Amino acid sequence: MQDASILVVDDEEIMREILESLLVREGCRVRLACSGEEGVAAARSESFDAAIVDVMMPGIDGLETLGEIRRLDDRLPVIMLTAYGTSGNTREAFKRGAFDFIEKPFKHDDVLTVVRNAVSQRQRASERLDLRRGGPARAQRFHDLIGRSPRMQAVFDLVARAAPSRTTILIHGESGTGKELVARAIHQNSPRSDRPFIPVNSGSLPPDLLESNLFGHVKGAFTGAVAPKKGLFELADRGSIFLDEIGTVPLDTQAKLLRVIQEREFMRLGGVDTIKVDVRIIAATNVDLKRLVDDGAFREDLFYRLNVIVVDLPPLRERREDVPLLAHSFLEKYGRQNDKAELELTADALALLRRYHWPGNVRELENVIERAVVLASGPEIGTNLIPDTVRDAPVLELPNVDLPPDGLPFKKVVEGVEARLITQALEAAGGVQKRAAELLQVKPSTLNEMIKRSGIRPRRKRSSGGPSPLHGTAGGRPTRRP
Ligand SMILES: Nc1ncnc2c1ncn2[C@@H]1O[C@H](COP(=O)(O)OP(=O)(O)OP(=O)(O)O)[C@@H](O)[C@H]1O
Ligand SMILES: [Mg+2]
Repeated sequence: MQDASILVVDDEEIMREILESLLVREGCRVRLACSGEEGVAAARSESFDAAIVDVMMPGIDGLETLGEIRRLDDRLPVIMLTAYGTSGNTREAFKRGAFDFIEKPFKHDDVLTVVRNAVSQRQRASERLDLRRGGPARAQRFHDLIGRSPRMQAVFDLVARAAPSRTTILIHGESGTGKELVARAIHQNSPRSDRPFIPVNSGSLPPDLLESNLFGHVKGAFTGAVAPKKGLFELADRGSIFLDEIGTVPLDTQAKLLRVIQEREFMRLGGVDTIKVDVRIIAATNVDLKRLVDDGAFREDLFYRLNVIVVDLPPLRERREDVPLLAHSFLEKYGRQNDKAELELTADALALLRRYHWPGNVRELENVIERAVVLASGPEIGTNLIPDTVRDAPVLELPNVDLPPDGLPFKKVVEGVEARLITQALEAAGGVQKRAAELLQVKPSTLNEMIKRSGIRPRRKRSSGGPSPLHGTAGGRPTRRP
C-alpha cells in the first residue's frame, strides 16, 4: 500500500488517530476529515485511492457522505465504519455503492485487509481505464445526471471539459430532458461552485419585470421602485447565472444581454453607473434558436455569442437504454421517500417503460415511477400500476398526416411512412430483424423485402445497446462550434 492516499472521515478524534497511525505505518498518505462535509470537500479537491467513512456522524451522515463522494468519483472505493450491531444500514450503503464494511471495534489486521483490497481494486480499475487509452470514463452518473447511453456519455464528457472555464454554454433539449440539471452540473463542476447559481426563468415574467429582475433598478426608476434593488446579475457575481428559455426573451432585453455577455457590464434600470460583474452565463432553450433568428425573433449577434459550446440533450426516446437505469434510480428515490424501499419493478412493467416514446422525457418517466410507488401496495410494481397513456400507447407512433389543401404525392408519403415504421421497429427490436418483423406483424421475409425496397440499411445490435438505427450518435453529438 506504499503511497496509497486514503481519506478518513470520522467525527471521533480517537478513531481518526487510530486509523491514521495504522495506515501511516503501512506507508499510506492519510487525509483526515472530521465531518461528512469536510470529507466531501476533500474528495472534491483531491483524488484518493480509498476512503473510510463513519456511518454515524452529526451533520451529513455517513450514508449521505458516501453518496456525495461516489457522485464526485464513482470508482473510489468507500469503506464504511459501522458500530457493532447496526447492520440495518449496510444494505442501504451497499445500494449506494459502498465497497465494504468495517465493524467497530475492529482488529487492526481486518482494517488493513479491507483497505488493501480497496486500493488494489482502485488500481485495477484505473489500469482498465488506461487500457481504453483515456477514453471517457463509463460512469453512469455525473452529478445528478444519470445515463449510460453513448449520447449521454458524450454529454457528460463535454460538460466535464467545458465546465471549468467561463465560456458561455447553451443547452438545447426538449422539455424534461434535464437542461436544468446540466446547468447545475456545469456550475458544480466549475471553480465557482461555492458561489451562487442563479436560475432565471425568462419565459414566466413580463418583459419589464424580467429586466428589473436581471439588472436591478435605482430608486425612482419606475412607479413602485421606492428603493434601489440589486439585479440577479449582481447577485450572481463570481457565480453562474442560468437563463432558462432564452428564446422567449424580448428583443430589447436581448440587446442588454448581449452587452453583459460581451463586456460583463450593465446598468441598473434608470441608473447611470456601469456595474461590472464576473458571471458565468449558461442559457437553455427547447426551441431551435437559429429558426428564431431566421424569423427575426432572436438577435443574430446574441445567437452567435451563445452558440459557442452547445450541449444537445437527446430526447429519451432516442436513448431508450437509459430507461431502466433512470427508472431504477427513481424507484429508489421514491421508494425511500415513501418507506417502500423494497419495491421492485416487474420485467413486464419495465418492458412497457422501455418501449414508450416519452414525449415528456425524463420528467414524465420520473412522474410515472413516483405515481406507481405511491399507489403500490405489494412488493412489486407491475403493469397495472403503469398509467394507461404509457400502457396503451401504440408501440409505434403513427405519424399524423393530414391531406393538405393542395394535395400530396401519395406514393412518396406512403413510402416515407413505411420507411419510418420499419426504422422504428428495427430500433425497438435492437436491430434484430425477426423481432422487428413481429412488431410489424409481417413475415421476416416480407420485412426483408421492404427493407431492400426502401433502401434502409439496418444496423446490427451492439452488445452494449448501441445507437439506434434511426438516430446514430454521429449527427446528434453535442457539438463544439467555433
Ligand atoms: N439524466 C437525468 N438523470 C436523472 N434525472 C433526470 C435526468 N434528466 C432529467 N431528470 C429529471 O427530470 C426532471 C426534469 O429535468 P429538468 O428540469 O432539468 O428538465 P428541463 O430540460 O429543464 O425541462 P423544461 O424544459 O421543462 O424546463 C427533473 O426532476 C430531473 O431531476
Ligand atoms: Mg427547465
